[in-house]
Amino acid sequence: MNPRSDCSTQRLNGDKPDDIARAVKILQAGGLVALPTETVYGLGADAAKDQAVAGIFAAKGRPADHPLIVHIASANEMTRWARDIPEAAWKLAAEFWPGPLTLILKRAPGMADAASGGLDTIGLRVPGHPVAQALLQAFGGGIAAPSANRFGRISPTCAEHVLAELDGRIDAVIDGGVCSVGLESTILDLSGLVPRVLRPGKVTADMLAAVIGTLDEAPSGESSRTPGSLEAHYAPATPLRLVPSQGLEAEVERLTATGVVVVLARQEPQSNASCRWIQLPGDAVAYGHDLYARLREADALGVNYILIESPPSGTDWMAVNDRLKRAAAGSGVVKSA
Ligand code: TXA
Ligand code: MG
Repeated sequence: MNPRSDCSTQRLNGDKPDDIARAVKILQAGGLVALPTETVYGLGADAAKDQAVAGIFAAKGRPADHPLIVHIASANEMTRWARDIPEAAWKLAAEFWPGPLTLILKRAPGMADAASGGLDTIGLRVPGHPVAQALLQAFGGGIAAPSANRFGRISPTCAEHVLAELDGRIDAVIDGGVCSVGLESTILDLSGLVPRVLRPGKVTADMLAAVIGTLDEAPSGESSRTPGSLEAHYAPATPLRLVPSQGLEAEVERLTATGVVVVLARQEPQSNASCRWIQLPGDAVAYGHDLYARLREADALGVNYILIESPPSGTDWMAVNDRLKRAAAGSGVVKSA
């Protein structure tokens, strides 16, 4: 059941109990099942089985020292996977689980070593998507799952995106529709002395601080084992540039003189622009929901440049700005000023 480059990937329907039962059988046999969550699709395997987890790394082309998040059905299961659980974890779980928050805790024996990236900590999350919940409850164990994309690429927010990258490399994908959040979970490290956000997401630092008090404000210099913290990540193949709103018109003009451009912007299309214009929502949550699908769409056009109007700064936009910065770095082109 481990990934082979020639296995055929079953398409399962998340609304059908029989299909959930099929997915459970595949997981029990050590296979790989991509599953919908409210953030992005995950590539799941039995978190307790080393060989199953090794299959995830092979299918994604992910370096072995990057740890995986273990998905569990409810906060009650935290004690099975983590030890010395601080009070803050229980408070946050009560407030935000099921939901788009991952907690890094000290690891108890139980997780496959292969999933730990050699760390003595573990990332745990209770996903809110009803299909992920149904699968976890029927399976009964933990499901280790990174985002279901090839390493370094854009995370998938629907089943078609998963198949575009992993068809033939995984045993099954469960279709659960389009992800409601669209950006990966917030990661909060509770394993050290002071809680620290390792990856911004829909659950903002302010929302976390309202429940547990002060956070360590210095996310820079975090471990490169948090791939979300690698400078180049979430990247389309097309060179991507971030351009401030006021400089967009000039940059469109400059680049259309040398190549084909697609623009992703919150502002209305310029009437004189001779390029494809994809308009994105003005609201941060709606923007985050659409971003990865629009990036894939832009990337598939085979143009010379993707130009993105820089979103506003501010805490609401932190997750979006974080992913865009990394996408620009990963696409291999220096950002314009
Ligand atoms: O929303 C999400 O978090 C999605 C869905 C599928 O749950 N998953 C996801 O997984 O984004 P992945 O592997 O693409 O990103 C998880 C991040 C990685 O950057 C990983 O290094 C970090 O979590 N991580 C996992 N365990 C960790 C640990 N013990 N310490 C520090 N970082 C950890
Ligand atoms: Mg990922």
